[in-house]
Amino acid sequence: MYRTHTLGQLNEKNIGEKVTLSGWVHRRRDHGGLIFIDLRDRYGMTQIVSDPTHNAETHATTESMRSEFVIKAEGTVRMRPDGMENIKLVTGKIEVLIDTVEILNPAKTPPFEIEHPEEKEREVNEEIRLTYRYLDLRRERMKNNIVMRHKTIKCMRDFFDNKQFLEIETPILVKGTPEGSREYIVPSRLYPAHFYVLPQSPQQMKQLLMVAGMDRYFQIARCFRDEDQRGDRQPEFTQLDIEMSFVTEKDIMDLNEELMIKLVETLVPHKKILKKPFPRITWKEAMDRFGSDKPDMRFNMEICDVTEIVKSCSFQVFQNAIKSGGVVKALKVEGGASFSRKEIDELTELAKVYEAKGLAYITVEKEGPSGAIVKYFEKKELDELLSTTEAKNGDIIFFGADRYEIACTALGYVRLACGDKMKLRNKDTYAFCWINEFPLFEYSKETKQLTASHHPFTSPLPDDRSMLKNSPEKVRAIAYDLAMNGSEVAGGSIRIHNSALQSEIFDTLKISKQDAERRFGHLLRAFQFGAPPHGGIAWGIDRLIMLFQDEKNIREVIAFPKDQKAKDLMLGAPSELPDDQIAEMHIKIAQPQKEIL
Ligand code: AMO
Ligand code: AMP
Repeated sequence: MYRTHTLGQLNEKNIGEKVTLSGWVHRRRDHGGLIFIDLRDRYGMTQIVSDPTHNAETHATTESMRSEFVIKAEGTVRMRPDGMENIKLVTGKIEVLIDTVEILNPAKTPPFEIEHPEEKEREVNEEIRLTYRYLDLRRERMKNNIVMRHKTIKCMRDFFDNKQFLEIETPILVKGTPEGSREYIVPSRLYPAHFYVLPQSPQQMKQLLMVAGMDRYFQIARCFRDEDQRGDRQPEFTQLDIEMSFVTEKDIMDLNEELMIKLVETLVPHKKILKKPFPRITWKEAMDRFGSDKPDMRFNMEICDVTEIVKSCSFQVFQNAIKSGGVVKALKVEGGASFSRKEIDELTELAKVYEAKGLAYITVEKEGPSGAIVKYFEKKELDELLSTTEAKNGDIIFFGADRYEIACTALGYVRLACGDKMKLRNKDTYAFCWINEFPLFEYSKETKQLTASHHPFTSPLPDDRSMLKNSPEKVRAIAYDLAMNGSEVAGGSIRIHNSALQSEIFDTLKISKQDAERRFGHLLRAFQFGAPPHGGIAWGIDRLIMLFQDEKNIREVIAFPKDQKAKDLMLGAPSELPDDQIAEMHIKIAQPQKEIL
């Protein structure tokens, strides 16, 4: 037998019991004859003691043990001497005096210490951590992240099971889904020059399940997207994917809100939800007030439109923006008059990252408005600027003069940075917000072509359908996102279930009949056999857990993530394959490259 108890189990009630324990040597301390070992497993830590006067042979073995050895020990539970208790540990009042010990497996010295205190732990180079992920996962913080992931998914499954949802697996080898990002492709061995792709999401499958009459579906679904990596993105990530028949947008929001509240209250009860029910605002309102389609609502600091106020001022920058159809937006930051030159320069650089041409500003001093651009305004205009933005002595007003989306977005990021500076983004508060009425289409940055903002199966708002032909960019979608502290954690839509409307959307997107048939024929065909009205949503599970665990990037909450260059450093993937294996797939390598950097 390897163990009678796990290492987080023993306490005063076990005093005098003979026990067998197994685990990893976390730390070993020699104390004038006695050797203390903190023995660790997933469940906790138990102190074992070897006394040379008790058993000399056992003691000799104990002396040879090093960190991370896997051992088995037998002994008797006893009280720790007075003053030697460790109140931080459940097992901190007891220790086990060992009779016998066995080294089950020695260990090389790990490339980093497992027992690092938290501050130091974060300094270990991530490349090394990812290369030896199995050691990294032995650490308390990482283990807790994995445990939280399990609990979250369990809670989700129970919730949906109670509400008559079916968990249904959908295939991983599929045909391309037209959801915007690049797909991972898998060559077919049996059919030369033919490929499967890995799903970017189970979008089409879950819609087909609605046609199949499954009514309520969910899945913990792996999704694959070959896109640029960022802190909150991974090439393969996990969604909580949901689809429902005979529902409205409101039904879906209500249900998902109920789940979110349940998750927070059961899993992270120390976090405070700022507002219940969650505020629901339109995309336009989110952009107008917060300069973002995923606003951080933990703090106010709203953006105002001042185009009307400044339309006759003599500041060329504002004039030019307005003349070319743009807007002037203002962001007041309370107490911001004390920002240094350097801080303002940094904020200006930030605004430029989001395509703003600059970041004009006015500070409010005792004597009144001040700054380089004040001279371009009449007194009346300045008064109105101050009253509209409610700026007082000690505040700063930043301006964005540009196309609507650029002005809003750039100030939106300046807003977040100022929220950080002013310490308004408390991680123990959760501010949720639903955003709906997204634009149905957008113009692609690269091709300048009209594309579906979400996917081409998203239903337009019935009121806007008449604009499909002439002003498609004005058409709003029945689409909604859930934002949490400035992160998009879920997004979905009500789908089109009517083939006439679907054809109209394809026409608007200039997707020809043949092209539509080739790409989505299976879906269009299915819709002719009685498709119920349906809609759904998908959550980014990794992002959610990252927020639950106060982690800064999603790699921290994924057991075996890819690095920022989409590599698996532990496995060494992607890798080359033997020539015959490649030939079998009917593929030729155009440009052999031995090393990947
Ligand atoms: P969407 O593309 O918005 O919608 O994805 C849903 C949620 O998944 C998360 N997410 C990601 N997480 C980590 N890494 C990524 N690369 C990544 N991309 C997205 C986000 C996002 O809110 N089929 C639709 C859903 C639907 O309409 O029902 C879809 O996939 O948190
Ligand atoms: P300039 O006239 O280029 O020296 O700019 C004067 C001030 O206006 C600087 O603080 C710039 O950062 C700012 N600025 C320039 N273009 C814009 C713009 N489009 N929106 C807001 N501020 C701007």
